[in-house]
Amino acid sequence: MKIIESTDAAHAHVRRRTGKSVLVPTMGALHRGHLELIRVAREHAGNAGEVAVSIFVNPLQFEPGSDFEKYPRPESADEKFCEDAGVNLLFRPRQMYFDDRSVYVEETRLSAGLCGASRPGHFQGVCTVVAKLFNLLAPAATVFGEKDYQQLAVIRRMVRDLNFPIEIIGVPTVREADGLALSSRNQYLSADERAAAPALYQAMLRVKELAAGGENSVSKLIDVAKEVVSPAKRARIDYITIVDAENLEPLENLRPNALIALAVFVGETRLIDNLRLT
Ligand code: PAJ
Repeated sequence: MKIIESTDAAHAHVRRRTGKSVLVPTMGALHRGHLELIRVAREHAGNAGEVAVSIFVNPLQFEPGSDFEKYPRPESADEKFCEDAGVNLLFRPRQMYFDDRSVYVEETRLSAGLCGASRPGHFQGVCTVVAKLFNLLAPAATVFGEKDYQQLAVIRRMVRDLNFPIEIIGVPTVREADGLALSSRNQYLSADERAAAPALYQAMLRVKELAAGGENSVSKLIDVAKEVVSPAKRARIDYITIVDAENLEPLENLRPNALIALAVFVGETRLIDNLRLT
């Protein structure tokens, strides 16, 4: 596995590279969710192609007062994880930004609601770093998780609107046995909080059941989700919404392509999840 730690070395690598490259952008603290993205990347790259993983804890996407400082950075474990997963290129830049940077990439429509409403500047930070990674590593394709559904939608839109010649591959959410979506932030949870966290998935499943049974009033479905989440220990709802999976606009009544998305603080830790309803 080749490891690259500077933007100059990335450009040099790409100039010499032949064959198809598939990129998996991450912030590290790698887990089975990331592993599934790497597996899908290999399927698309083929054995002769390159699977590239980037690890960069991007300061631009952490709003002030959030967990940038304490975000886990297990560097040598992540390196071994990539090696064992058959990754060809690990891009671990030490420096991504100029101190006097003045150009940002912003998606203005899909970023407005859901997590964008509670995390101002977050998706601008995501788009800016992902656009830079695309320019630095010039992949033919890139893999993102549906766990961060809004992020995937925003990146698809950025690629479409800015004509990046890159195929976007979405991967279904990888979950623990009790339904909790894997996330690097799950390690912040205390034992009690960890026990409460599956309430997010249970709430979404309950809503899906009711939807399958014919309930199509979104306000009623959201009330049910709140009833499931609220009693969970140390849980505080940030948002629970049912949106159109294409344009992320809130729905009043269920129709095809409905998606439930939620963000819930369990203790101090903000967890997000989503599920297709129809
Ligand atoms: P990170 O949270 O490390 O996630 C990297 C990728 O892994 C994202 O595409 C995310 O959706 C996917 N992922 C995380 N948990 C998953 C799970 N349980 N199942 C499936 N996929 C999962 O998302 C980011 O980093 C950053 O915002 C980034 C795109 C790297 C830009 O900084």
